[in-house]
Amino acid sequence: MKVTVVGAGAVGASCAEYIAIKNFAAEVVIVDIKENYAEGKAMDLMQTASLNGFDTKITGSTNDYSKTANSDVAVITSGIPRKPGMTREELIGINAGIVKSVSENIIKHSPNVVIIVVSNPMDTMTYLAHKATGLPKNRIIGMGGALDSARFKYRLSEALGAPASDVDGMVIGGHSDTGMIPLTRIATRNSVPVSEFLSDEKLEEVAKATMVGGATLTAMLGTSAWYAPGAAVSAMVQAIACDSKKIFPCSTFLEGEYGLNDICIGVPVVLGKNGIEKIVKINLSEAEQTKLEASAAAVHKTNGLLEI
Ligand code: LAC
Repeated sequence: MKVTVVGAGAVGASCAEYIAIKNFAAEVVIVDIKENYAEGKAMDLMQTASLNGFDTKITGSTNDYSKTANSDVAVITSGIPRKPGMTREELIGINAGIVKSVSENIIKHSPNVVIIVVSNPMDTMTYLAHKATGLPKNRIIGMGGALDSARFKYRLSEALGAPASDVDGMVIGGHSDTGMIPLTRIATRNSVPVSEFLSDEKLEEVAKATMVGGATLTAMLGTSAWYAPGAAVSAMVQAIACDSKKIFPCSTFLEGEYGLNDICIGVPVVLGKNGIEKIVKINLSEAEQTKLEASAAAVHKTNGLLEI
């Protein structure tokens, strides 16, 4: 298993680190446009190998995509992150050009790759990568739901006074402050619906805090978060590498599923060696479906700004 991570910023480096620590990949290549930057991050990470006990070989490259040849999975984190007060949608102007050229460079050297898009606005960047590469839809996946669901579980665990590992929950919809749909109705604590423990008001509070999870951290850190985003991507890469068939909510190209068309947006999918192996249809309540349609309308509007 060879993994390329494009972008040696905080999210890319943290993703490479988690992949290495989990020790399932033979090789991780980090690519960045800044001279020697990816090489430096790779060397620093390699110096943790004996301490953290991994065998994954991490290398860096300054924009030389020949080093990424025959990658099984490539993660695109490149582009600018948001600053406090910015929405993810405001990044489209700069990030669209970057994501388009990066995805084209990746497939030139790895025609069989599965691409995971992290750059924001993520659903629109996933759609752009889909259009720019012409890869089959199972091989272009947007990372948003895995992160948003982890943030949802964190907020639920706080409200419940329970460890996050005892909590299950999923966020679907667009990866935006207003488009996320934390599915409180089906969230559980060790198989027990969370509504047995938490009032509707509390669940509404949890959902709201989840939706602005990224913005809250951006205000605190001065830039976009990286540990949870990196961990969320690494979990998706692991599911693909190990052909685990786990369900993650991911941004995927829809052709009629959930009543939506010509859009990449977060819905539950099965991840395995082919990338998205299946789009999972769950029964949404009327209110959830209405929210999903509103979220999709906002993503369509952002997609309309793309020049493709
Ligand atoms: C966040 C970025 C990765 O939500 O979109 O932290």
